[in-house]
Amino acid sequence: MSDELTPVPPATTVLISGASRGLGLAVVTDLIERGVRVAAFARTVTPELDNLAARFPDHAHFGPVDITDAAASQAFVKEVEARFGVVDALVNNAAVGQDSLHVHTRVDRIEQIIETNLTAPLVLTRFWLRRLLGKGRRGRLVNVTSICGQRGYPGLVAYSATKGGLDAATRSLARELSGRVLANAVAPGFFASEMSAVLGQTQLDAILRRTPSGRLTTPEEVVPVIRMLLLDDTNINGQSIVIDGAGSI
Ligand SMILES: NC(=O)c1ccc[n+]([C@@H]2O[C@H](COP(=O)([O-])OP(=O)(O)OC[C@H]3O[C@@H](n4cnc5c(N)ncnc54)[C@H](OP(=O)(O)O)[C@@H]3O)[C@@H](O)[C@H]2O)c1
Repeated sequence: MSDELTPVPPATTVLISGASRGLGLAVVTDLIERGVRVAAFARTVTPELDNLAARFPDHAHFGPVDITDAAASQAFVKEVEARFGVVDALVNNAAVGQDSLHVHTRVDRIEQIIETNLTAPLVLTRFWLRRLLGKGRRGRLVNVTSICGQRGYPGLVAYSATKGGLDAATRSLARELSGRVLANAVAPGFFASEMSAVLGQTQLDAILRRTPSGRLTTPEEVVPVIRMLLLDDTNINGQSIVIDGAGSI
């Protein structure tokens, strides 16, 4: 049987962007507690990450990197490889939010949202894939997108464009990679974090009214789906898995 016809093995070394807080930190914590080697970055290394590094010195590699600085993120990948060997999974989680009507959003802010949430993850993914495939290895890719990539929300025009773009890239990557890398996205509904703290009570009430369970998703409900896509034997590929309590149905 050719290698492509066998399941892609579970990830052993996972690189996660945007891990200083929120969902990224929850994913790092979950994986490292399960014995996975985890490399992660954000612009700031928070006390929470320092604490994890102290608890799991052999499994953690964290550093301060701005994902829009391609040279810095690529140097970080090489640093991780020197320590842990090949990085066989990437979680593109780092992103910036938006809370402004399109007509009121400055052009440089639109550019920054697109650079951080779409261009930089694609550039990092390209770099990671070249090194992974160049070594003849297979792997897993998880892009953290959003329900905003599939449904409309006022105040989130540029942000939604980046998330829809990443969902589309995920599908084309799955085709292009011919089963050597399982490429999927998770698309959460709104959950409490620094990013969503800008939502007002009126917006939250509207989301809750539209959600059958009457409650928001939590990061703890997103983490197991990301873990499954990274570690389980699965043939899920090219999908954007919505986790929003059916709020968008
Ligand atoms: N919260 C929601 O309601 C919601 C819903 C659907 C999808 N999502 C998605 O879920 C993911 C996590 O969001 P979250 O709510 O956990 O947000 P968050 O708490 O604001 O965390 C965002 C993370 O990205 C990092 N980051 C931002 N800009 C960066 C840059 N230029 N370079 C490197 N790291 C950067 C931040 O760290 P630094 O600031 O230290 O760099 C932080 O670790 C994002 O992709 C978001 O779009 C969120």
